[in-house]
Amino acid sequence: MKNLHIPAICVHAYGGPEQLQLQEVPVPVPAKDQVLIKVVASGVNPIDWKIREGFMKHPLPYIPGVEASGIVTAVGEGVFGKKIGDEVYGSVDGSYATYAISTAELLFRKPPGVSFEEAATMAGARTAWGALFDVAGLVKGQRILIHAGAGGVGHFAVQLAFNAGAYVIATASEENLDFVTSLGANEVIDYNAAPFETQVAPVDIVFDTVGGDVTERSLAVLKPEGLLLCIVQMPDAEKMAAAGVRALWGGTKTLASMQEVHKLLDKGLIQPYVRKVFHSLSEAAAAQEYSKHGGSGRGKIVLKISEG
Ligand SMILES: NC(=O)c1ccc[n+]([C@@H]2O[C@H](COP(=O)([O-])OP(=O)(O)OC[C@H]3O[C@@H](n4cnc5c(N)ncnc54)[C@H](OP(=O)(O)O)[C@@H]3O)[C@@H](O)[C@H]2O)c1
Repeated sequence: MKNLHIPAICVHAYGGPEQLQLQEVPVPVPAKDQVLIKVVASGVNPIDWKIREGFMKHPLPYIPGVEASGIVTAVGEGVFGKKIGDEVYGSVDGSYATYAISTAELLFRKPPGVSFEEAATMAGARTAWGALFDVAGLVKGQRILIHAGAGGVGHFAVQLAFNAGAYVIATASEENLDFVTSLGANEVIDYNAAPFETQVAPVDIVFDTVGGDVTERSLAVLKPEGLLLCIVQMPDAEKMAAAGVRALWGGTKTLASMQEVHKLLDKGLIQPYVRKVFHSLSEAAAAQEYSKHGGSGRGKIVLKISEG
């Protein structure tokens, strides 16, 4: 496929959705430990628009996207365990393209009962796993409050915490209360009905996937020495000390956490939910705008790029 060109979304300068330009780029060639996939679906994550707007830096120009599902079309000479035709999913930098490369060990076999769209959302599960278990060390019997229990990370976190035997309390809008209950939450709080602080008894851990004023308001619902687990922003250190609680950054991206959530997906012990599918690369801007402004919703956003 060398010298062939493929459609991809390219960003040449930080800015608004107009920076997402559909153009032809050379097909990437897999190195020794890499695999080339035909991308069927790309996850659309908040980090995609945050990078595009320049809140987080990426060398320019770049192809957006951090995760995908697809079909292996070429393998580097040092790759074992992946072959042409395999249906895979996992971490893929530059996934807003019809073909993309990734390190072979970051890709996992897509279980047959899981759709390409569903499989393209599992970065949220890896984030939730890393935060809950690698960082917070969540164990059976602990009380945890998960903010945004219906969200892209939150809906996985509720399932993982429930599977671990924690007592799970989650926040959600009224229309998502039943959904989050169905994921295993023991209590679901309508955060619009009244401040969540007035609706929850003290917890061991708060998993904050929302940020803004939710971060520091969460200090009030922690037990003494309780843990605020953050993936959006950290609280003010003085306020944290005054509240007698701890805070840790929960954003870790280990291979082990991806392996753990893959095992659960394979056994049907975790279910990804797709909130909305956008149906071609030309809808990349609409997908990112929806991710930024879409409001209430269940699960993750997906950009469908080709047929599986
Ligand atoms: N540091 C890291 O490694 C890392 C990794 C992944 C994500 N993140 C960050 O984590 C955040 C969440 O990501 P995501 O993919 O889960 O986002 P998302 O799916 O876009 O979040 C949307 C959800 O947020 C909920 N929500 C909005 N305001 C809320 C509030 N005040 N209280 C409770 N829930 C609220 C909505 O719930 P309702 O529909 O029920 O209203 C909706 O389901 C983003 O800022 C993202 O950048 C960080």
